[in-house]
Amino acid sequence: MKPGKLTLTQLADMKHRGEKIVMVTAYDAPGARLAEQAGIDILLVGDTAGMVVLGHDGTVPVTMDEMLFMTRSVSGAVERPLVVGDMPFGSYHVSDEDALRNAIRFVKEAAADVVKLEGAGPSLSRVRAIVAAGIPVMGHVGLTPQSETILGGFKTQGRTAAKARQLLADALALEAAGCFAIVLEAVPVPVAARITESLTVPTIGIGAGAACDGQVLVYHDLLGLTEGRAPRFVKRYANLAEEIRGALTTYAEEVRTGIYPAPEHTYAMPEDELELFSDAFSSERPEGGTASGASAERVEQGQRNGQSHGDQRRERDARH
Ligand code: KIV
Repeated sequence: MKPGKLTLTQLADMKHRGEKIVMVTAYDAPGARLAEQAGIDILLVGDTAGMVVLGHDGTVPVTMDEMLFMTRSVSGAVERPLVVGDMPFGSYHVSDEDALRNAIRFVKEAAADVVKLEGAGPSLSRVRAIVAAGIPVMGHVGLTPQSETILGGFKTQGRTAAKARQLLADALALEAAGCFAIVLEAVPVPVAARITESLTVPTIGIGAGAACDGQVLVYHDLLGLTEGRAPRFVKRYANLAEEIRGALTTYAEEVRTGIYPAPEHTYAMPEDELELFSDAFSSERPEGGTASGASAERVEQGQRNGQSHGDQRRERDARH
């Protein structure tokens, strides 16, 4: 563990002191660095990357290799925040052994501190197997996007008394299986509040109200990098999409009009070296034309005709 890393004991103490835990998703080193500088406690390398980074409609297509690549770039960039590797769909669904093997990959190959997986039921024995091997697990109940189809879409969960009771039972079962924290996604406020007070481990809410022990948002949502309709729980703290589009538009205009690069963006060379360089160039093209002068002219002629250096070389070879 890196020195200065937030420990699971400190995290549990935060719940007991009533100090809110702040989590955000991160998918690359620059984003992770900024989040650490902002004092964020936990970085979730979420499989939401499938949507906000890779451009899929959901999280299901994300692969282990993609998750390991992103997790490695996040974990290498930060010291204090706890880095959570989100186990993608298919990486823990087949068996406990498979789940453990993939959790180990997150820790060994991508330096994740902990892993997260979705659901209760069959996920409980996965949690037990991973925790038994010494890898801490974060649970996730409520709206679990990997089960989007079975849940009937991205919908609020636990809105009937029976479903709310089931959610509480699932959260308690995940805690008993060894989870050190549990994400509650898109759950009515009173249900999330009840789960939070019933658990000894922290709850991290997303669309679950203020009673949770902490909150998580998707990086691209909170910074306004995603556009269009956002879920109700998203608060945009910036409008970076507009800012980035504006900057790129100005760059394109300046390249096309010759404003960029200006002299201050270019490199000079010492006068005497420039003279030597120019002399050498003019001695290659003496007046009257020599073999080398003729060949320089051929190159220029070729370039004027749109020939590449390769085309010119092939033409020369064919002549010899
Ligand atoms: O993958 C993710 O980003 C998540 C959060 C939305 C909790 O699971």
